[in-house]
Amino acid sequence: MVREILIYPHEMLTKPTQEVDVIDNEVRGLIRDMFDTMREAEGVGLAANQIGVPLSVMVIDTTPKEEVPPVKLVLINPKLVKGEGKVKFKEGCLSFPGLSVEVERFERVKLSALNEHGEPVEIELEGFPAIVFQHELDHLKGITFVDRLKGWRRRMALEKYKKILREVQKG
Ligand code: NI
Repeated sequence: MVREILIYPHEMLTKPTQEVDVIDNEVRGLIRDMFDTMREAEGVGLAANQIGVPLSVMVIDTTPKEEVPPVKLVLINPKLVKGEGKVKFKEGCLSFPGLSVEVERFERVKLSALNEHGEPVEIELEGFPAIVFQHELDHLKGITFVDRLKGWRRRMALEKYKKILREVQKG
């Protein structure tokens, strides 16, 4: 089921999520809804709190960006184990419609998480999928991509976003 994506500054986007204890039918349903919602919005990643569920769950599917082969992941209680290298990339976010900002991230990451079956996994990602992972991991901590900017860059991005929102509201 496609759910509504919360738009910044919704408070759910600025609060850390809680770890999942048990992967039950509710969590499995949440994961299905997250994939449905992400695909309809043509996104490449989604965090559970973006659809109003404060749990540490993210989904990634890089198919819209034509990664070959696409990276498709369900990550529950994900942690960054190691990050290497630096890369700057212009990111978008489904919770900030119309805004894109350049953010610095690790180029390669090693992560640990539980998969949808509750099995512990360790995964290495590089390039675009690594960027998506770090963006979604921030969401789960209540951090958005504008929080990765400092000083005037952050102020400019928020000003631009306010303008976009005003335009959208005018229709
Ligand atoms: Ni986002």
